[in-house]
Amino acid sequence: MKVLLVGGGGREHALAWRILQSPLVSELMVTHTNPGFPDDAVKISGDPVAAAVNHGVTLAVIGPEAPIADGLSDRLRSAGVATFAPSQAAGQLESSKEFAKAFMDRHGIPTGRWSSHTSRESALAAISGPCVVKADGLAAGKGVVVANNAEEARSAVEAMLDGAFGEAGHRVLVEERLEGPELSVLALCDGHRAMPMLPCRDHKRRFEGDQGPNTGGMGAICPPADASAEMVERARAEVLQPVVDGMRAEGTPFRGVLYAGIMVTESGPKVLEFNVRFGDPECQPLMMMLDEDIVPLMLSAASGSLPDRNLTWKSGSACCVVMVSGGYPGPIQKGALIRGIPSPKEDAVVFYAGATREEGGVVSSGGRVLGVTAVGSSLGAAMDCAYTMVESITFDGAAWRSDIGKSRRP
Ligand code: AMP
Ligand code: GLY
Repeated sequence: MKVLLVGGGGREHALAWRILQSPLVSELMVTHTNPGFPDDAVKISGDPVAAAVNHGVTLAVIGPEAPIADGLSDRLRSAGVATFAPSQAAGQLESSKEFAKAFMDRHGIPTGRWSSHTSRESALAAISGPCVVKADGLAAGKGVVVANNAEEARSAVEAMLDGAFGEAGHRVLVEERLEGPELSVLALCDGHRAMPMLPCRDHKRRFEGDQGPNTGGMGAICPPADASAEMVERARAEVLQPVVDGMRAEGTPFRGVLYAGIMVTESGPKVLEFNVRFGDPECQPLMMMLDEDIVPLMLSAASGSLPDRNLTWKSGSACCVVMVSGGYPGPIQKGALIRGIPSPKEDAVVFYAGATREEGGVVSSGGRVLGVTAVGSSLGAAMDCAYTMVESITFDGAAWRSDIGKSRRP
């Protein structure tokens, strides 16, 4: 069958790598280029819906959130293409934080207290101490300020309403600041059931020890040693399945990947945010840990027929270290020649993100350049393997966090 993959970052390289292991797939079509996509991937131009129909695509897989928010999944489905991604309506769980909070309140899903504001006066009045200020719309993971005191929160409100995040910040949320370890729990959903994946931990802050500005993600491990089976089951029963049930009850069935960013508080799991797609970089370790063909799962999620069983995973753990361009997450240095990438192996793969193939080789072209990912019999073994690869790779200005997985290394 022909599969169309939308998106061209590190997450999509990992999806392509996994999809192409399926004996069911004869051809991969892509909307973007990525130095990691195989040479025989067919690059389409123009409208992806017309291309999918004209080429007889059996399954469309949408990686990033923006095309979901733009309604691409709805257009593909209307044209008769099985699509692994939620509808625009269900995608509001990510594209509007206010929608997500109100949905959780309607369905009794645990989350911090919140209020939503479009006026400076009402937002400032809601602040009385430490809290979290968020831009309502999509801001590439960067529209969140965890304020230590009222003054920091007030300046975040001012900056957002002054347009620091454009349209996304015209409405702001002021949230209760939650404490505890964070977990990312993702599930495949088919409109009826949520099939949880292994838990992951993202490392969102730019610098070691979780210091510095938030980024799209500097690395991820899967599964974190402190994520108990009981906690994952609570996340399934108290968050993921209730979201799927609530979405179906509201007439907007959720099909695709539901990602719950969870804080494990003293009173149990509470939702920080939802994404309606695989996380980047969480997708990279997840694709390496998955021990079964993903294509039938994506097809059955798209058609409402996921099997009633658990997913199959490799034993051990995976670690992904993201190598970024100098300056990231601020203005970056681009165009640096990348050297020393080892050839992919079953348990060690360098996924390309902000990188472009040019005549002289592959050069950096974005903030997050590579996702250096390895599987090991333990988290420590996976980390050692990933960091050995990182040490062998060079490009001008290359930077990374040296503590991915370390804070909770067993
Ligand atoms: P988000 O994009 O909503 O996941 O927020 C980015 C990061 O900000 C999260 O991974 C948390 O580390 C932090 N954060 C978000 N919401 C809260 C909250 N209510 N309390 C404490 N930290 C939060
Ligand atoms: N790594 C977090 C995200 O993809 O939003």
